[in-house]
Amino acid sequence: MTSLRLNELRQHTDILRLRNGKSLMVRFVEPRDAEVLQGYFRGLSVRSRYNRFLGAMSELSKSELDRFVHVGEADRFSVVATMMIDGFETIVGEARYAFHPESDSFEFGLSIDDRWQGQGIGSTLLANMECRAAAFGAKRLFGDTLRSNAAMLGLARKSGFAFTHNPDDWKLVRFEKHIDTAPHEIPCASWRLAAQQVAYQAAV
Ligand SMILES: CC(C)(COP(=O)(O)OP(=O)(O)OC[C@H]1O[C@@H](n2cnc3c(N)ncnc32)[C@H](O)[C@@H]1OP(=O)(O)O)[C@@H](O)C(=O)NCCC(=O)NCCS
Repeated sequence: MTSLRLNELRQHTDILRLRNGKSLMVRFVEPRDAEVLQGYFRGLSVRSRYNRFLGAMSELSKSELDRFVHVGEADRFSVVATMMIDGFETIVGEARYAFHPESDSFEFGLSIDDRWQGQGIGSTLLANMECRAAAFGAKRLFGDTLRSNAAMLGLARKSGFAFTHNPDDWKLVRFEKHIDTAPHEIPCASWRLAAQQVAYQAAV
């Protein structure tokens, strides 16, 4: 997949309810988001940025930013989690993911704005990743985090992930989870669209 049209991207938007009752929108990043997304990364604390990118960096390079906002290129996808704050759609988190068909696995990384951490946004976005993974038909989803990242380890544990070693880097812990692909309900737009596609193909 090289590029996706905006109207196709927008069909994958999810509106989710946080535990405090507020609404969280999870949508694909669009090219118009580039500057605001860069501002989001710059605004993260040094520690959050370090944890997110597994090393020191102050912002995305121009080419990384370009890749981030072109969803679907090289089979990588970026979403932002946004909330309406004072009448403006504001990025409070982001995630980037890829599906690896050779291993039926879905890899992802995510971050939440420091000012919005600890309010259940990370768990909600993580659950949404699980659903997007299922939409690809993935059997497993996983991410890597620094051993020192207590928040991510805590979030992964609470969300039912198991831990293993990263095969390539002893400083990293891999958190992974088997995906139940026979749910009672389908909680995200991507999976609903995938299910409709399967039903349509079966019918023709
Ligand atoms: C890790 C991160 C995504 C968690 O997001 P969050 O929105 O703060 O998480 P939530 O509020 O949904 O927390 C869910 C659970 O995670 C665990 N958790 C969250 N912060 C924690 C912390 N500082 N220490 C230990 N456990 C923590 C708790 O079990 C929490 O459940 P509780 O609220 O019932 O106590 C966020 O801290 C972050 O963006 N960090 C910087 C980037 C990063 O580390 N990314 C991970 C690389 S893949």
